[in-house]
Amino acid sequence: MTTLQEKIQLATTFLQNKGVKDVEFGLILGSGLGELGDEVEDAIAIPYAEIPHFPVSTVEGHAGQLVYGKLSGRPVLAMQGRFHYYEGYSLEDVTFPVRVMKAIGCHSVIVTNAAGGVNEAFTPGDLMLITDQINYTGVNPLIGPNDAAMGPRFADMSHAYDLDYLTTAREVAVSLNLALKEGVYMGFSGPTYETPAEIKMVRLVGGDAVGMSTVPEVIVANHAGLKVLGISCITNLAAGMQANLNHAEVVETTQRVKETFKTYLKETIKAL
Ligand code: HPA
Repeated sequence: MTTLQEKIQLATTFLQNKGVKDVEFGLILGSGLGELGDEVEDAIAIPYAEIPHFPVSTVEGHAGQLVYGKLSGRPVLAMQGRFHYYEGYSLEDVTFPVRVMKAIGCHSVIVTNAAGGVNEAFTPGDLMLITDQINYTGVNPLIGPNDAAMGPRFADMSHAYDLDYLTTAREVAVSLNLALKEGVYMGFSGPTYETPAEIKMVRLVGGDAVGMSTVPEVIVANHAGLKVLGISCITNLAAGMQANLNHAEVVETTQRVKETFKTYLKETIKAL
């Protein structure tokens, strides 16, 4: 049987043979936010299906490829489309790209997502800097034997989102006159949206936004010693705060704010 280490190595070698090298940032682009990958210069696009041991994404609005090249002059490896636990992937699959980002030499990952706003001060279309997260998925990608070569048994999550990156991200927002929100991202497994009662709970326990991704990738990034910056696009108000929820609205909102999102991400990458 191929071990996880061997799978990571096979995928990494494959990407290196495609010309991927000296990458600084791994980028995970969430639902409707994949267009940032189209702005990568001198781009090499590699479909997930070609990469050994890479899962293939199924959700609408996700292209399913890695894009390597420069964004704001910095070498990035961007995921257009990510893997969700609710799709039926194991958490090892969901977080496999993060392991590959580490193996290929990234020092940081930038995670983005579409999220429901729980904080009453949020409006659909807001961008939210993720200051911390609550893992409410009921699972953890690090459950199982720990390979000490990949990280510690008990990973420290005290600064899951890098403090210096938070400072820089705030400064960039000010310089762009962007009313950046910030808050705690609470991760659910999905695929159902939350109930109004669950959203009341989220607010009581300190969550500002909810979503179905990000939490496993950020846990593995911390385990691997990668620095993390996270940005949510608040696509809707969470259950009970508006009439109904649907995926079409999520996509519509990301489309509406995509130019702001792209500009903000590019300027932030430049400044990190
Ligand atoms: N809940 C969970 N995930 C989401 C939401 C939501 O309201 N909006 C976008 N992704």
